[in-house]
Amino acid sequence: MQNERKIPVHVAIIMDGNGRWAKKRGLPRTAGHAQGARVVEQILEDADHMGIRYLTVYAFSTENWSRPDSEVKALMNLLRTYMKTSLAKCARNNVRIRVIGDKSRLDSDLQASIANLEKETASNTGIGFQIAINYGSRDEIVRALRKAAQRVKDSELNPEDITEDMISDGLDTAGIPDPDLLIRTGGEERISNFLLWQTAYSELYFCDAAWPDFNKAELEKAIDAFNNRERRYGGLIS
Ligand code: FPP
Repeated sequence: MQNERKIPVHVAIIMDGNGRWAKKRGLPRTAGHAQGARVVEQILEDADHMGIRYLTVYAFSTENWSRPDSEVKALMNLLRTYMKTSLAKCARNNVRIRVIGDKSRLDSDLQASIANLEKETASNTGIGFQIAINYGSRDEIVRALRKAAQRVKDSELNPEDITEDMISDGLDTAGIPDPDLLIRTGGEERISNFLLWQTAYSELYFCDAAWPDFNKAELEKAIDAFNNRERRYGGLIS
């Protein structure tokens, strides 16, 4: 009997290659991001239909602020539109949204629509969709450690009581299982400060397709590759 294909519970994606995709077509980089945003919505539906329970995408890093103003603005506007327009779709598809990253630097209207979408979808029981905005893994770890240090200072916590679980619970991804599979599109093979703590044991999959060309068939390929790996955590596979 053939072994059944395992579907990863949590897939995280570094969506790279938007700019190069646009350049190849003589379009502005922002056209690549706009197409990328359409692909995000399609992949979320595909992932859901395949039985993936959590999808996390890297939409805007702490380093992305250094891009030209017009590009930052275009990316923020795409995110703004998503937050404002996707409630009905999330309700229909039972999607639960969480934004990870430091939201305090975002425009107040964007912060408000994120808070609203998170609140309105919080009790949905389908796929969990995490969008990383102004996210950097080191920044997230620093923020978590500051919270723990404050509790030590306030005598609520002893340093020796700090555990791995406690650190996980202080991260923006608290309560979400670590990714089983991390995909990076666009041909580069780097982690780029994404989910460094959470991907300690994740399988890594890099593909050449630019994010705007990524589709269900590419996702299936990534899952096939995941299935062909023998997952090990330092122990022996029995
Ligand atoms: C990297 O490609 C991609 C980004 C910095 C932005 C990704 C954001 C989106 C796809 C929009 C997200 C929208 C929603 C609704 C979540 P790059 O510009 O670095 O590409 P390059 O390496 O070819 O220059």
